[in-house]
Amino acid sequence: MRRTAEVLAAELARIGMEHVELIEVALPGGQTGHPLVLADWLHAPGKPTVLCYGHYDVQPPDPLDEWHTPPFEPSERDGNLYARGAVDDKGQMYMHVKALESLFAAGGGQLPLNVRVLLEGEEEVGGESIAAFLRSHPEKVEADFALVSDTEMFAPDLPTLCVGLRGMIYTEVEVRGARTDLHSGMYGGAAPNPFFALAQIIAQLKDQDGRILIPGIYDGLQAPSTDELAAWARLPFDEVHYLATEIGATSLVGEPGYSVMERTWARPTLEIHGMPGGFIGAGAKTVIPARATAKLSMRLVPPMEPMTTFARLKEYIESLTPKGVSVEVRLIHAGEAAVIGTDNPYIQAAVAALKQIWQVEPVFVRSGGSIPVVGDFERCLGIPSVMMGFGLPDDNLHAPNEKFNIRNFHLGIETLIVFFEALGAEHNAAGFGVAG
Ligand code: BES
Ligand code: MN
Ligand code: MN
Repeated sequence: MRRTAEVLAAELARIGMEHVELIEVALPGGQTGHPLVLADWLHAPGKPTVLCYGHYDVQPPDPLDEWHTPPFEPSERDGNLYARGAVDDKGQMYMHVKALESLFAAGGGQLPLNVRVLLEGEEEVGGESIAAFLRSHPEKVEADFALVSDTEMFAPDLPTLCVGLRGMIYTEVEVRGARTDLHSGMYGGAAPNPFFALAQIIAQLKDQDGRILIPGIYDGLQAPSTDELAAWARLPFDEVHYLATEIGATSLVGEPGYSVMERTWARPTLEIHGMPGGFIGAGAKTVIPARATAKLSMRLVPPMEPMTTFARLKEYIESLTPKGVSVEVRLIHAGEAAVIGTDNPYIQAAVAALKQIWQVEPVFVRSGGSIPVVGDFERCLGIPSVMMGFGLPDDNLHAPNEKFNIRNFHLGIETLIVFFEALGAEHNAAGFGVAG
């Protein structure tokens, strides 16, 4: 992690960025996480300031035996670059570096607008350091808007701006029964089994249709506007194709009465990721485990508050505790949902740049995924985010054989160059704001 941060810092200095530093944020409890990389170039008086954000951490590469080439040795096949982090988010973050490098070179060491770069190494684990840094040093990241390239295009060759992310809470539910593991023949019939207790709890979290049963969870949710819903209905989307190519199961599931877009972008969800505990080795072992755990997360939509949602989840799970066991619900990390308005000049300039390079009218989408810092940009800095990403739906984010389409990488860089040039050239006429 540190080496990656150092490589990025060296790259930023090499292309011409100034005040490049690694920042270790002191976290509550005295630990530090992974360093932030910060840099700026602020010599375009009167021009807007962009805050370029990216993350250099990645998801674990397992299961390793499903990768066709090793996850940490980038390899090129059929116009794609395969590697963990190729698109999420090392490759996309690097588009910002290459666009800035090109602008520095073409401008004789000058950029058309003011630029700050802020990179983090903890996005995939909740982004605690960057959140603390924004709260304690907002002046070091003062900007007019943030640029985030960590999202996908809705379809190949369809330029896309993401204007909504779901928030999340990630939790662990631990059920404890007997003091220690027990022989299942000697004690089975008398001793509580924490896996059964956990299964009974989990089975009561959603109904057969996928509706979450936590009391109050759907209260006061903001539905997307009719305009937004109409735009989603016009997106090129075929449920059968989606089921076959992206999901690969026999049927889709989820709340009746909502489209796939609504269910994945604008409705809360609850998922179980794994259930560590007990005997999972090869062969048989007759044991009643003393404890069982479930990794459980929820995706949130406005105006759901992570802490209120966690409290509701915890209270509901505790109310379901079967006899003979105790339950503990722990919060691992949390992030707020974000919905971005499209009526600001930065989004409008992004639309124009995408249209110019891709020769197609861009679409606005939301995403079911989460990027915790986007909510913080809004709340701590009061700035909107332009989420302009160039991943594709089949890029295998978080999965084996993650890839980045190399043509998208190049067109993405071109789009960013045109976007930055337009912001620097036209802002007086268009009336863009200026930080400070
Ligand atoms: N880049 C993704 C989020 C994303 C994916 C947005 C696809 C739009 C389209 C991000 O790196 C991610 O995976 N975030 C985690 C956040 C979490 C662990 C706090 C997520 O969504 O699970
Ligand atoms: Mn990402
Ligand atoms: Mn990710």
